[in-house]
Amino acid sequence: MRFRAMASPAPTPAPTFAQEHGARHVAIIMDGNGRWAKKRFLPRVAGHRAGVEAVRKVARAARQMGLDCLTLYAFSSENWKRPQQEIADLTGILKHFIQADLDEFHANNVRLRVIGDYRAFEADAVALIEAAVERTRGNDGSTLAIALNYGAQDEMARAVRTLAARVAAGEVAPDAIGIDHISAALDTADLPPLDLLIRTSGEQRLSNFLLWQAAYAELYFTDMLWPDFDGDALAAALASFKERERRFGGL
Ligand code: IPE
Ligand code: IPE
Ligand code: MG
Repeated sequence: MRFRAMASPAPTPAPTFAQEHGARHVAIIMDGNGRWAKKRFLPRVAGHRAGVEAVRKVARAARQMGLDCLTLYAFSSENWKRPQQEIADLTGILKHFIQADLDEFHANNVRLRVIGDYRAFEADAVALIEAAVERTRGNDGSTLAIALNYGAQDEMARAVRTLAARVAAGEVAPDAIGIDHISAALDTADLPPLDLLIRTSGEQRLSNFLLWQAAYAELYFTDMLWPDFDGDALAAALASFKERERRFGGL
């Protein structure tokens, strides 16, 4: 005879650090790698390599805190203006990161997502990105979204094209297009609403990141350079977030 446990109420799990702080989705503009390297009389690429170590630390911390989604701005649609060598260095670092870290993300039930028009990268990088996204598609522990060749204006232009095609196909009436249609046509359609947007390095601008999604996000600027950012720095940002009064236009 099979043993059957008596029906008892499932124990309520203790709230995670992220839940205690009321945050589900944090996005970070990882800025200051070049200045970090310059301070040490190192080439800019050394700053980018150190930046990857910060990505590892912060992604682990976000997971341990129980954040549903961490979105990282890794390469903007304007970063193509940089010297060819730096673009090649960044692409190489990205490929190495996926190869080295994918197993860990997958083992920890992390779903990897990409926002931005990543197909502009070289073919072998695109193949690695797509394989990583495909392999982790079914993971439901948390989401790590990486912004690659991402620009909010480009994202909106692509969303408008998608919606225009649906209108032309007779699927949607022009008058019916509302906020939800636009949200659903953006790269972030399946991500939770953005709670907190962090930028490191002391710059106080959004540099074309998540302009639509940041409508009611809280903003947090720190002078820390990205390679110096870590789990404690993320916890400090969440502590600041917890003290904010979010009103969403109400009282
Ligand atoms: C951020 O660091 C990384 C990327 C934009 C890829 P930067 O390379 O912008 O570093 P700074 O701003 O020159 O210090
Ligand atoms: C924003 O940083 C892009 C990323 C962090 C990937 P930038 O360094 O490119 O931004 P600006 O040029 O200072 O605005
Ligand atoms: Mg910068």
